[in-house]
Order: sequence, then structure tokens, then C-alpha cells
Amino acid sequence: MILVTGGAGYIGAHVAVELMNRGDAVLILDNLCNSSRTTVQRIAKVVGREPGFIHADVRNRRALDNVFKEYPIEAVVHCAGLKAVGESVREPLRYFETNVSGSVTLCQAMADAGVFKLVFSSSATVYGDCAQMPIAETCPTGQPTNPYGQSKLMAEHVMRSMAASDGRWSVGLLRYFNPIGAHFSGQLGETPTQTPNNLLPYLLQVANRERDVLRIFGSDYPTPDGTGIRDYVHVMDLAEGHLRAMEFLREQTGVHIWNLGTGRGYSVLEVVSAFERVTGVTVPLAFEPRRPGDIARCWADPGKAAGQLGWTARHGLERMLQDAWRWQCLNFPRIEPREVVLRSIEQG
Ligand SMILES: NC(=O)c1ccc[n+]([C@@H]2O[C@H](COP(=O)([O-])OP(=O)(O)OC[C@H]3O[C@@H](n4cnc5c(N)ncnc54)[C@H](O)[C@@H]3O)[C@@H](O)[C@H]2O)c1
Repeated sequence: MILVTGGAGYIGAHVAVELMNRGDAVLILDNLCNSSRTTVQRIAKVVGREPGFIHADVRNRRALDNVFKEYPIEAVVHCAGLKAVGESVREPLRYFETNVSGSVTLCQAMADAGVFKLVFSSSATVYGDCAQMPIAETCPTGQPTNPYGQSKLMAEHVMRSMAASDGRWSVGLLRYFNPIGAHFSGQLGETPTQTPNNLLPYLLQVANRERDVLRIFGSDYPTPDGTGIRDYVHVMDLAEGHLRAMEFLREQTGVHIWNLGTGRGYSVLEVVSAFERVTGVTVPLAFEPRRPGDIARCWADPGKAAGQLGWTARHGLERMLQDAWRWQCLNFPRIEPREVVLRSIEQG
């Protein structure tokens, strides 16, 4: 059985689905601070059987001990965490407590229970403003400019030290680039609970007429059209990456780092025009000054994941946008006519 912390969240839910589709038994542990039980029900609907679910906090050592005592957990995918950059600047201690202390508590409980296989949701943000593009795992980690990024890097350090001191650990640090998209069924996707910090959720809300205008921060970056370039990866591809990492860790100990990205960057304006082309919905834009801490360019060298895991992202940008829009239309219906929009998506 595999424990997925944060499995009611955006990425964890997709990972849980793919693990279950492969035949694994899955136990989700989530405190539901940024998700709901509905997602667990939807996972059951999509897969055709229910995952186990424990409503608990990764910082609660007693709850974790009980889980490891009661269930035959062989490995953990640790997605539970806080991820809003702006909030992390306002409430750094909460971020360090959840993302760092929560990870420490989880690892302690795992070690005491004799469970040493761990896949961790890390982020490309740990590279900071990397001079080299594309970014390979050999690039030095930078100095993340906000407590969120710092907490991810600190959690990585914790896991590296722990594995260096005890050879039984098998740890996969998955550095996600920019996960977007949704489950192909339209049943699972990202549900922002606050003003989105990332391009896609914001764009979807503007397209859905929940917001007036897409604010683009920075049009004077040293990129071909002046807007920032990122490596967007379909959340279903990302989920598959976790499965491959888990397979690899069955045979290997130590700490292994993999970038999960496509290796291709798109500018904000390229994403917007692809979205308009795919959906037929116009997105009003407003240009604003750069945001402090944002970088101009960031895309992965995914060669290591390809070589070691046999993993490459299969879905292109248009597919990611179609799936994201289907999720938005089915779950946050606002603009009309929905049928036309959805039909245009189906026709691709
Ligand atoms: N989405 C991205 O763009 C992105 C990029 C890089 C890394 N990540 C990392 O991936 C992980 C998952 O991200 P996501 O996009 O699915 O976020 P999410 O907020 O949708 O999911 C996180 C889940 O963790 C749960 N959670 C939070 N604190 C918890 C705690 N103390 N105990 C138990 N559960 C807790 C939340 O309720 C939520 O269900 C996070 O660690 C995030 O930092 C995300």
C-alpha cells in the first residue's frame, strides 16, 4: 500500500489515480486545508474503487504512527504542503512549519515504522534564477526568493542529510516545473481557493469571466516577446513521473533528483494565444510591471528522467489547455454557451 500525503490536492489526486490504475492500494492522508472530501469521492469515481482516506495532518506524529501501525505502507508520496508564494511571504512560519517540520515529522514516523521509500514533491523554484538553460539537475540550487521556495529547498536538504546518515533510505526528489492541465475525464483538476499566483488558474478564471482581465507581470524581459517563459507540464504526465520514480526506488537506495518538465518553454503570450486558438474564448490582457522575485526564463532539461526512468512528457501545450478548460467549464460553469465551448474542445 502506498501512502499519498496531500492526496486530496491537485497533484496528489492525479498521482493517487494513476497508482490505483496501476493496481496499487492507496491511502490518502490530508488535512483538507486546501482541498475537500469531494476529490476523494471523485478519485473513486474515476478509478472505479475507493482509496483509503485519513483526515490528518502531517505534523501530527501520533496520527502518522497510527497510520503506519494500522496499514501495510511500503512507500510514501509526499505531496502535502502549502504552495502559495504570496502567502508564504506574509506567513513564513506557517510555511516552514508545514513544508519543513511536516516533512521532518513524516520522515521520523517512516523511519520508526521501517518505511524508507519516499517520493517528494519538490519544485524547480529550488534552482532560483539559474543562468543555464535548459536547467539540468546538475545546476546548483539557487537562493529561492520567497519562503515557499526556501521551504522546499530546506525540505530537500533534510531528506539528503537523512539519507546520507542511513543507507536504507530511497528518496526521489521530483522537481516539478509548471504543472497544468487536468484529468482527461474533467473530474479532477486544480481548485484555487485564493487569488491564483500562477498563470493558468488565473487565465482560466478570466476566460470564465470570473475576473475581468489577465494581468501580465513584465513585458520587458529579455525574451522574444518580452514576457516570461516557463515549462508547462501536463499533470497526468507528472503523475506518471511519480510512478516511474517509485519503480526506480524499488531497486535503488540513496537520493535521486529528477526534473519533471517537457524541455520546452512557452511565453505568457504564447500560452494565451494557444488558449484562444484551442477554446475560441478571447482573454483580455493588461500589462503590469515585473513582480519582484519572478525570473525571465525557466525550462527543464528532462534528459535524466528520460534516461533513468524512461519518462518523457507526452502531452503538448494544446492538450494541457484543452483539459484545463474542460475542467473549468464542467466544474465552474459561468460563461455561455457551454456546449459550444466544450464541443470546440472535443474537436480539438
Ligand atoms: N502546483 C504547482 O504548481 C507545484 C509546483 C511545484 C511543486 N508543487 C508542490 O507539490 C505539492 C502538491 O501541490 P498541489 O498543487 O497539489 O497543491 P494542493 O494545495 O492542491 O495540494 C496540497 C494538499 O496538501 C494538503 N495539506 C496541506 N498541508 C497539509 C498538512 N499539514 N497535513 C496534511 N495535508 C496537508 C492540502 O489540503 C492539499 O490537499 C505541494 O507540496 C507543492 O508545493 C506544486
